[in-house]
Amino acid sequence: MGGKLRNRLNDLDGRQWLYWTDTLYITNYPPDATHVLRKQHGAMKPPEVMAEIIRFFTKEGELVLDPFAGVGGTLLGAALTGRKSLGFEIDPRWVAVYRTIQRDFVVVNGVLCPREEADNGEAINGEMRQGDCLALLKELPAASVAAVVTDPPYGINHGARGFGGETNFNMLSSGLAGDLGHAPDLETFLERLQEIGGEIWRVLLPGRYLVMMVGDRYQEGEYVPLGFLVAQSLREVGFKFKGVKIWSNKATRRPLKPYAVKSVFVPNITHQNILILRKE
Ligand SMILES: C[S@@+](CC[C@H](N)C(=O)[O-])C[C@H]1O[C@@H](n2cnc3c(N)ncnc32)[C@H](O)[C@@H]1O
Repeated sequence: MGGKLRNRLNDLDGRQWLYWTDTLYITNYPPDATHVLRKQHGAMKPPEVMAEIIRFFTKEGELVLDPFAGVGGTLLGAALTGRKSLGFEIDPRWVAVYRTIQRDFVVVNGVLCPREEADNGEAINGEMRQGDCLALLKELPAASVAAVVTDPPYGINHGARGFGGETNFNMLSSGLAGDLGHAPDLETFLERLQEIGGEIWRVLLPGRYLVMMVGDRYQEGEYVPLGFLVAQSLREVGFKFKGVKIWSNKATRRPLKPYAVKSVFVPNITHQNILILRKE
């Protein structure tokens, strides 16, 4: 399928490409060997899912950037797929977890394995820089990155009211100045993300993609479509909103909580939006 067309974006064949355009994205990755270390974070993403995203939006050897790198889900995904990677993370605690994984694990046949159990294997080369991504982005040259694959904190210090814990929001916040998770309200959150989005636009190569994972919220008795609000604010800095994949990882899905049963509809938000935006 499409065998004669030169693939401008990735190394997939036509069938693999087509499969990935489905807007419904159900994965089933169980915790991997690095999970025990990464789970300290609480909002980390499976490296295998990040690898699938990276495989679609880059070719082997290209550079992937994650400005909100956490404990390195994107960087590990890049290591699984033979891409270069660079991550920015404001909280030194998460940088240290990533560096421990880098020291103690290698990639063997596309899987992360403890170094001591592997006869050989490839090192995890992705570089993690500690600091505020807005400042660190400004240090990168324009048009130097093939893809930005990231999930920012969705947090707003809103203090959920209503049904106890009615929001799916469960973000740990470092308390550090510049932490996007500390934005005092939704408006400020979107403004700060938009400013960062402007820098992401600058460092991306033309025609390439920003892929951002954003969970929706339920707050004060109403559904907040945070994913689409974020997409809109990124459109305003110039990105074209190309689509969304609705992602759920079955293997690590939380049990449903009985919010307001027999009273009013309250959703259990078990999916995340994978926003796909292009610099064009
Ligand atoms: C949802 S988590 C990302 C988790 C990551 N995908 C992983 O697999 O570990 C968002 C991260 O952004 C970081 N962060 C928040 N504001 C930041 C900023 N201004 N610059 C860099 N990192 C920031 C937080 O400390 C948090 O670790």
